Amino acid sequence: MTVEGIRKVLVVGSGLMGHGIGQVFAQAGYAVTLNDLDDERLQRAVEGIRRNLTLFVDEALITPAELANAMANVSTDADLARAARDADLVVEATFENLESKRAVLRRISDLCPERTLLASNTSGLSVNAMAPATGRADRFVVAHFWNPPHLIPLVEVVRGDQTAESTVSRMVEVLRSIGKAPVVVQKDVLGFVGNRLQYALFREALGLVQNGVCTAEDIDTVVKMSFGRRLTTAGPLETADINGTDLFYSISQYLFPDLDNSTGPHEFFKRLIAEGRTGVKAGHGFRDWPGDRAERIRQNRDRELIRWLKVDRATKDE
Ligand SMILES: NC(=O)c1ccc[n+]([C@@H]2O[C@H](COP(=O)([O-])OP(=O)(O)OC[C@H]3O[C@@H](n4cnc5c(N)ncnc54)[C@H](O)[C@@H]3O)[C@@H](O)[C@H]2O)c1
Repeated sequence: MTVEGIRKVLVVGSGLMGHGIGQVFAQAGYAVTLNDLDDERLQRAVEGIRRNLTLFVDEALITPAELANAMANVSTDADLARAARDADLVVEATFENLESKRAVLRRISDLCPERTLLASNTSGLSVNAMAPATGRADRFVVAHFWNPPHLIPLVEVVRGDQTAESTVSRMVEVLRSIGKAPVVVQKDVLGFVGNRLQYALFREALGLVQNGVCTAEDIDTVVKMSFGRRLTTAGPLETADINGTDLFYSISQYLFPDLDNSTGPHEFFKRLIAEGRTGVKAGHGFRDWPGDRAERIRQNRDRELIRWLKVDRATKDE
């Protein structure tokens, strides 16, 4: 069910994130307009949505009629002035660069109605650093969707110092209406909550590999074959409670002083970048990426995430 007063949702930037964000709003019955720099990109975005929805039908997550209804809710417009004119909510999902985001947000704010709520899907830029450019800091929040946005439930809603309480609660209400699991981040911290946790793990992983404790492959095996599986059902603090906070306390006493506390990228990571080992796109990164291995992992990941959506739905229906 859509939220009263929010009918038209404009997504500015229809790339990897933008098209998936548009899709979830369209599935929930909102009139979605995708905006991008040219029609070719917009065409690709619409094809991406259709592909995602077709997989949902194949996996019996939605019916063919629901696919048709969602597609009917999606339109495109490369003319921002026309697209913004009657938008109730705008989600900005353009390049991750503070200066360019400020320029885009300023332009959007100039073009859309006074009442319009504005959200940025930045991965970790400061909400306070972007807010002044909007000229409507009270009606501006970060809404950080996770990739792939049509499959991951969490959205972090980050309030800035000037964000009105009513904007935060309205954004939460809208996100619940599209089936998302919003969490309000109460302070403007870099990386928000999720990426801070992810990068704490990443830093420790780099330290372990650099110190020869294990290989990059071992890191991935350890996480996937142990607590990675558990984390989908019990979070780290739930796990501490289940196992006993006293046990976690005594482990913290001897382990915290020994954990990696590097304040910049590790030497071997710097070398890896200097050698052009930038990951799948280069064929090598921490790991080697022959043939279609990355694509197979992506497909497995999406199927597993769809299975989780079915579990979520079944649990909600109980
Ligand atoms: N990729 C991720 O995993 C991920 C996850 C969460 C959040 N984000 C954030 O989402 C945002 C978008 O990332 P992405 O991965 O989708 O990038 P992307 O490069 O796939 O898409 C960005 C899109 O914005 C368009 N664009 C750029 N300037 C524009 C403008 N002035 N007007 C209209 N369209 C414009 C580009 O043409 C492109 O299609 C970034 O802020 C990113 O940090 C990304």
